[in-house]
Amino acid sequence: MGWLSDHINMMALIAAIVILVLTIVVVGNLIKKMRDSKADGEFTSHKWDGIAEFANDIPVGWIISFIVLIIWGFWYIFFGYPLNSYSQIGEYNQELSEYNVRFEEKWKNLSDEDKIKMGQGIFLVKCSQCHGVNAEGINGRAQNLTHWGKVAGIMDVIKHGSVGLGYMAGEMPALEVSNEDSELIAKYILSQISNAHIKFADMDAKKIKKAKELFDSQTCSSCHGEDGKGADGMAVDLSKYATVDFLREVLTKGKKGHIGHMPSFDYANFSDTQIEALNAFINSLQPLDD
Ligand code: HEC
Ligand code: HEC
Repeated sequence: MGWLSDHINMMALIAAIVILVLTIVVVGNLIKKMRDSKADGEFTSHKWDGIAEFANDIPVGWIISFIVLIIWGFWYIFFGYPLNSYSQIGEYNQELSEYNVRFEEKWKNLSDEDKIKMGQGIFLVKCSQCHGVNAEGINGRAQNLTHWGKVAGIMDVIKHGSVGLGYMAGEMPALEVSNEDSELIAKYILSQISNAHIKFADMDAKKIKKAKELFDSQTCSSCHGEDGKGADGMAVDLSKYATVDFLREVLTKGKKGHIGHMPSFDYANFSDTQIEALNAFINSLQPLDD
């Protein structure tokens, strides 16, 4: 019997038996006295309709078990289960991580299509209440994820700035860049800097060169570094942009931004597969308007 080998369970059991025995003895005595009508002692001054109360002391056994229980309670909290060896939260986390291992094992070789489906499933449960079922952000209440991680998303960041991920530079200000230049910079980031290496048919060597110059002249490189890798934590490492690493960062940190507050999903303990699935789903979204 596993629960008997656990010393905490044992002690709880012994304590319960002691309390039971004490209670039976004391109550038994009282009942006996009542039956023999030989109750003795002084009355208190309170009388209700002729019914009086004895001024007897509390039975010693009760006092002892009361004090012992208080001491045991302190021991239990500080040295026993909750703060030391065992907690239900700990047990929950342990079970969850065991489950996650099995989950990872089971879904190791998902096809891209299945990843998107899994991502959509998680999205509908965990994200759609703010981002909307079609992920366009419910009229600006949360980030429009059909743009995010794409050209339109970067153009949006340049136009409105960004805040809330806690980088050293603090805030990325809104920048005045023409739409044409902005689009070129966005394509440059996605194809040349981001590890997602998204290809654009119109990005030839000449355009890449021009985009790189814009990346410098429009001050992007002053915060993100010349290589776009974030200048050692100064700003976002753009080689992560549009990859699963960036999504993981956002889900871990949460984002108190200009649009609103996105909570951290650290508590949800998403597994790598689940974050990859979410990322695949978000990447698969097409902008609704264009
Ligand atoms: C003053 C410094 C600074 C400048 C200049 C700057 N950035 Fe940023 N950028 C940041 C910081 C800081 C963040 C992280 C903001 C946050 O916490 O959300 C960021 C975030 C980003 C992001 C990620 C936004 C997201 O969705 O989370 C992109 C993309 C980006 N910058 C591109 C650019 C481009 C392109 C330029 C040039 C046109 C540029 N940045 C100029 C500081 C800067
Ligand atoms: C409580 C509402 C809420 C929930 C739930 C929520 N988000 Fe967000 N999310 C936001 C808001 C608001 C923003 C915009 C933050 C800002 O102002 O930049 C945002 C922004 C984002 C961004 C863009 C981050 C960036 O760097 O620009 C991503 C990606 C994102 N959410 C993904 C998710 C995913 C995936 C889920 C589900 C696991 C989720 N969100 C759940 C409110 C929410």
